[in-house]
Amino acid sequence: MAKRELQAPRGTRDFYPEDMRFRSWLFDHFRAVARAFAFEEIDAPIVEHADLFIRKAGEEIVEQLYHFELHGRHLALRPELTPSISRMVIARAGALRLPLRWFTIGQNWRYERMTRGRKREHYQWDAEILGEPGVAAEAELLSAIFALLERVGLGNGEVQVRVNSRALLEESLRGGVLRDRPDVFGPLCIAIDKLSKIGRDAVVDLLSDPQGEVGLTRDASGEVVDRLAIDDLDDALREAPPNSAAAAELRRLFELLEAYGIGPYVHFDASVVRGLAYYTGIVFEGFDAGATLRAVFGGGRYDRLVETLGGPAMPAVGFGFGDVVIAELLADLDRLPTLSRDVGDVVVPLDEAQRPAALRVARALRGEGRSVEVVLGAARLKRVLADASRAGVERVVMIGPDEAARGKMRVRDLASREEQELDLPEGSGR
Ligand code: HAM
Repeated sequence: MAKRELQAPRGTRDFYPEDMRFRSWLFDHFRAVARAFAFEEIDAPIVEHADLFIRKAGEEIVEQLYHFELHGRHLALRPELTPSISRMVIARAGALRLPLRWFTIGQNWRYERMTRGRKREHYQWDAEILGEPGVAAEAELLSAIFALLERVGLGNGEVQVRVNSRALLEESLRGGVLRDRPDVFGPLCIAIDKLSKIGRDAVVDLLSDPQGEVGLTRDASGEVVDRLAIDDLDDALREAPPNSAAAAELRRLFELLEAYGIGPYVHFDASVVRGLAYYTGIVFEGFDAGATLRAVFGGGRYDRLVETLGGPAMPAVGFGFGDVVIAELLADLDRLPTLSRDVGDVVVPLDEAQRPAALRVARALRGEGRSVEVVLGAARLKRVLADASRAGVERVVMIGPDEAARGKMRVRDLASREEQELDLPEGSGR
């Protein structure tokens, strides 16, 4: 067993070149979709003041915080990006043209109990629209997610999106079991988010625990959990309070999703409430069709977070799309991309006397924008050719004494195995 300090901490990853190739491939797709939807890229520090993330609603994300004291400051590695983005918006609140569309790709840290697809660090593509109260923003975000799924080879239907409205749940409960306790809605959501993990009885126990944050009766708790079984939009709309604004929004969202062509892959599901306390309206999550993995992405509307953090009232909605689950899903479906090293040419001086000419050739090729590896030591040509083939290199450029004397180089195309003699680029001869 290697010494502990020689291993990456449990739940964290080293990215070797092949891992990095996949990561870059995925991030390039994130960026391309963000650009197609006119989102601007931003970045923020990984270390923030811990208080930015600490909320009192009993969320797992707060219990999992990597945090420490340093020179009298209580700092934390960010577990998610939304609070940092909100902080950045607050700092420039008066000067920003709203609605704004920002995205970022960043590493997040959560001290999780690990299962498949769940690590202690992960990267997230996070996209946010701030300053827009209408569900056109939700529709735009969901449409961007589908564009991404399509780009990475997960056609329609392979990831199913489930949508709910916390606002609708809140409206319904305020007219009933929460009539006298409107303040416990946040902790109530955190408890019912655990339904699929811990089951109905355990959620009822949580909601009715007299020492707990929510403290409903057992009957009222059972009533709350029963509502979560609705998985049909029409039923949800029928059950909604009269003139419900939340129901109207939900209906409008589904109309817009139809217009975007993604309606068939998005379903209403009252059990989706999400485990973060700040959501106030539409919430959504995406799962692999077999629902064998954790959520591929999740998001929703959080119209009060900016204000809670000390900023102006500002409607906001966004999502986080992780790098871990999507990789698991592509691997399960045998659809991980084959990514080569992307080297165009390998240049080999056949002996040291030709090295200056080889370096000049490499320089000329790099000047044309090609990626060029110069063989650095004494080369066995057979091995160079075999390595280059394996790495997916396009051409091997060989310069031996005969060629150099005639101002030539031998260029072998590794795919066709054809070899031709070409002039050394201008100024690269002896
Ligand atoms: P979240 O649901 O906690 O939401 O995370 C979003 C996505 O990040 C998840 O669906 C999953 O793909 C990935 N993820 C989260 N935790 C882990 C983990 N431990 N290991 C691997 N992947 C993970 C948020 O973080 C919200 N801030 C999203 C948001 C943005 N809502 C509004 N704006």
